[in-house]
Amino acid sequence: MCGIVGYIGNKQAVNVICDGLEKLEYRGYDSAGVAVVNGDSKVNWAKKQGRLSGLEAVLEQSPIEGTVGIGHTRWATHGAPSDINSHPHLNMSETIAVVHNGIIENYMEIRERLTAEGYVFKSETDTEVAVHLIDKYYEGDLLQAVYKAVAEFRGAYALGVVSSNHPGELVAVRKESPLIVGVGEGEYFIASDVPAILKYTRNVYYLENDEVVYVKDGKIQILDAEQNVVDKELKVVEWDIEAASKGGYDHFMMKEIYDQPQAIRDTLLRRLDENRMIRLDDIKLTKEDLDGIQKMYIVACGTAYHAGLVGKYAIEKLAKVPVEVDIASEFRYSDPFIDEHTLLIVVSQSGETADTLAAMKLAKSKGARVLAITNVVGSSVAREAHDVFYTWAGPEVAVASTKAYTAQMIAFYMIALDFAFKKGTITLERYHELVNNIEALAPLVEEILADKAQIEKMAEDMKDAQNAFYLGRGVDFTTAREAALKLKEISYIYTEAFAAGELKHGPIALIDQGTPVLSIVTQDALQEKMISNIKEVKARGAFVIAIAKKGDTEIAKVADDLFYIPEAEDLLMPVLAVIPTQLISYYVSIARGNDVDKPRNLAKSVTVE
Ligand code: G6P
Repeated sequence: MCGIVGYIGNKQAVNVICDGLEKLEYRGYDSAGVAVVNGDSKVNWAKKQGRLSGLEAVLEQSPIEGTVGIGHTRWATHGAPSDINSHPHLNMSETIAVVHNGIIENYMEIRERLTAEGYVFKSETDTEVAVHLIDKYYEGDLLQAVYKAVAEFRGAYALGVVSSNHPGELVAVRKESPLIVGVGEGEYFIASDVPAILKYTRNVYYLENDEVVYVKDGKIQILDAEQNVVDKELKVVEWDIEAASKGGYDHFMMKEIYDQPQAIRDTLLRRLDENRMIRLDDIKLTKEDLDGIQKMYIVACGTAYHAGLVGKYAIEKLAKVPVEVDIASEFRYSDPFIDEHTLLIVVSQSGETADTLAAMKLAKSKGARVLAITNVVGSSVAREAHDVFYTWAGPEVAVASTKAYTAQMIAFYMIALDFAFKKGTITLERYHELVNNIEALAPLVEEILADKAQIEKMAEDMKDAQNAFYLGRGVDFTTAREAALKLKEISYIYTEAFAAGELKHGPIALIDQGTPVLSIVTQDALQEKMISNIKEVKARGAFVIAIAKKGDTEIAKVADDLFYIPEAEDLLMPVLAVIPTQLISYYVSIARGNDVDKPRNLAKSVTVE
């Protein structure tokens, strides 16, 4: 994620940039920084770990004047949050400054090359290669140097560049990461998102991939990759600031539901090398390490625990190792059997959940190897672990977790694949087939989201329910558990998930006339059994809403209402099946007039036992 802002005009740049960064803090807030050019021989800059207020305090102590500048609020991906890793990054002579949002995937190879040529790196970030590479190509023309540098990048980036040698210029580039240009009276803004500039202007150019913004002496040009001028339409933004920070959605939860295709792509694609092999840079487990592991645990809380259940399924199926999954608060007091042949995988969106942290410390003290799956770089869980997998889902603001969950599942598929390949339990052909099938999930999620109006209608029928039940078998039972958690979290309807085969052993006593029973049916081998279970609850008066694979006509005969999802291989269906359940929870919550993003009694990060 990260947020970038840039300004060139007549106002004091620092004021405009700090206003903008404040509106972008939802994109990340582990550090902030600014760089300003004002005729001095060097770029003037300030940067500080922590929230924007920390940077503002520094700027109050030592103000920076000037009317051209760039700024950044960071959500760490490469290198922990720290002053040094904060943006802007500068070349060695401090004449060029760069802010960046995205990931330069081939930064290691560029860094090695530049280091050999004498460039000295200060930070652990991928971004720093950008500024040194621009420096290397700089021969008096800033724009040409930027063009030459970005031609070498692989990955996603939005860059803002200024130079003390060019005090009347601002250069910005967009590839995959978002970037917009605001147009005021004799002034221009660049930003990762519209809210950053709405205080100053509503006139905006939305940049496409590979477009370059070049402002010089009060004139703007938007150029394509071949440096041709692009004739773009200036759009007028209608949103207010609050709506804009949610990407135009009414709530962060909906925005984050819509972020999921991108989260899947980011988590997967940025770890594929040119041969489409998975590269897990922060996981150092070798084949020998894996062969020495006799037991694996997956430990987490809440939604992350449900991702762990999918993880068990994937690791056992692909890597053929038995895995136990436990809730962190139970695990830590259960005197688990742990030794140096144990691998503990912890999952935590925030990386700060107290019970999860305690569980991993316990396992470490007994000699286990610990691998963390987390969304927050530099979080406590990431720091404590031997190996880390970062889900690059971007900051999750809504308390009810959505995109972090899908990204955690993708993480598990990738880890399972990596382990399986190292252990020799799958063929290369199957490996590639699965990588392709995981990649194909992103557009399938988009397809489901396009049908959301149908779910909104379904939610109408459920809004007055006293209780509701989710049913599933196999990995669909896991989706049912996550779906039930989501519905109870934000609708406050009493919701439970049951393994459909267990119904007769008790839960069926709860079914009454009109009780909503949401049945998830995506596993081919279990479809007939699920149909029998659906008939059983229908016979007791249940109102059955089914979520099933497109083309399953048998389900249509028994369900009262039905939502079809596209087909993927059974192993991957949890990623698709959960999407309609998130939307159901969302719409039911809205229909009941609840605060979707901040449900009662809940916190985003639980740092107490
Ligand atoms: C809280 C949140 C849940 C989350 C759980 C675990 O209960 O409300 O959404 O799943 O904590 O959080 P973590 O950050 O460890 O994934």
